[in-house]
Amino acid sequence: MAILKIARMGHPILLQNCEPVTDPGAPEIRRLVADMMETMEDASGAGLAAPQVYVPLRLFVFRVAEARGLEDADDVPVGNTVVINPEVELLTDERVLRWEGCLSIPGLRAAVPRAPRVRYRGVDCDGTVVEREVSGFHAGVVQHEFDHLNGILYPMRMKDFSLFGFTEELARAAAARQAG
Ligand code: NI
Repeated sequence: MAILKIARMGHPILLQNCEPVTDPGAPEIRRLVADMMETMEDASGAGLAAPQVYVPLRLFVFRVAEARGLEDADDVPVGNTVVINPEVELLTDERVLRWEGCLSIPGLRAAVPRAPRVRYRGVDCDGTVVEREVSGFHAGVVQHEFDHLNGILYPMRMKDFSLFGFTEELARAAAARQAG
């Protein structure tokens, strides 16, 4: 396994529409998925999409960690998961603001409008269908990673840029608010 280099915002590969994976079980896809999971863990990320490691294919990995401070009663921890050739269906017209970061936009966070509930479907490397209806953090991370496959980065979803900042400053401001 290997830690992969992560593309940062500004690199054109992040704006590309990715191609479907023709053989999810191919050795090079299995290796890519294992390396992406290792890279995500190494970077303390919640998700990573293939174009972020310079591979313009329709697959992403993610996890919902226990330590996430699970925001939703339906939100349960999920171990490392791969979704290949995903489809995502937003289950409501409602949008909620969710705080997000991105390994391709290091050091920054923002509140991004997302559907609170989605259904997604894809396959893993064994061709097993992964199909879930989810809410909370899980729904947010899936929308974020799916966007990467269509060349969309979270700032492109934002409406209120006053809710965009450096993680460090946002944490300082939140601590000051609590103290004050
Ligand atoms: Ni991202």
